[in-house]
Amino acid sequence: MALVTIFLLLQLLLALALALNEQTEYAENDGGWMKNNYSPVQEEESCSVERRDGSITYAEFIEQYAYRRPVILQGITDNSEFRTLCRKDHLLRTYGEHLVRLSTANTYSYEKVDVPFQEYVEHLLRPQDVETLGCDTLYFFGDNNFTEWGSLFRKYIPPPFKLPGTTGAYSFGVAGSGTGVPFHWHGPGYSEVIYGRKRWLLYPPDKTPEFNPNRTTLSWMIDVYPILAAEERPVECTIRPGEVLYFPDRWWHATLNLDTSVFISTFLG
Ligand SMILES: *[C@@H]1O[C@H](CO)[C@@H](O)[C@H](O)[C@H]1NC(C)=O
Ligand SMILES: *[C@@H]1O[C@H](CO)[C@@H](O)[C@H](O)[C@H]1NC(C)=O
Repeated sequence: MALVTIFLLLQLLLALALALNEQTEYAENDGGWMKNNYSPVQEEESCSVERRDGSITYAEFIEQYAYRRPVILQGITDNSEFRTLCRKDHLLRTYGEHLVRLSTANTYSYEKVDVPFQEYVEHLLRPQDVETLGCDTLYFFGDNNFTEWGSLFRKYIPPPFKLPGTTGAYSFGVAGSGTGVPFHWHGPGYSEVIYGRKRWLLYPPDKTPEFNPNRTTLSWMIDVYPILAAEERPVECTIRPGEVLYFPDRWWHATLNLDTSVFISTFLG
């Protein structure tokens, strides 16, 4: 009896130590972005996107994923230099006065607002409020000025696997915890997080999800996701720094930044 108790206690301590260790590791490499971090949603219970390590060949990527299903590629590029440049203090010092174009976080993103990057970071970069509509949430993702931010983008190493007949276009962003874009689709591409975690929700082209285009992904996660039947659940996974998610052409997807995040996509058009 005593032995069993000691064994259970030891297991508990081990679990605690592992959890603490993960937390500190995470906080140390946060680029200064996690001050107002608050994760309103957890990671998925089980990831349904395959993860492949850096040993995957181009032929395997083309045959198994490029035109078939999403995949997460781990450690295929080393963007540690780009990551250092994306530290909060560095971005503010270098680009603080440059304008960034913000879009509303609804499916169609009609409205655009230009503000200095510093103002965005100091006043608008905050956790998503559950009640606020996507059309009332301003989000910095894309519409980048590649002239002004050129010295940063030149340091990004995109995933090496190209799709025949396409070229890559970058889209860079910084956004608060709980933000994200609601369901939409377009051509194929890659998404990488530089800081923070991003949860991805995907459906194949022939399986249009139920969603209100004006509501945020956060409200969908809270109101709709829990009542979905097992066969209606999205394909989903959370990516972390060092991982790149590939999504094929016309796959529906929505994203949710679990932390304050710095991220970059490569759209293959
Ligand atoms: C990008 O920045 C340059 C240099 O400041 C400016 O002349 C140009 O109008 C900007 N482009 C856009 C699309 O805002
Ligand atoms: C979403 O918002 C737009 C713009 O405010 C409005 O015209 C549209 O009717 C709304 N759609 C839904 C489904 O609520």
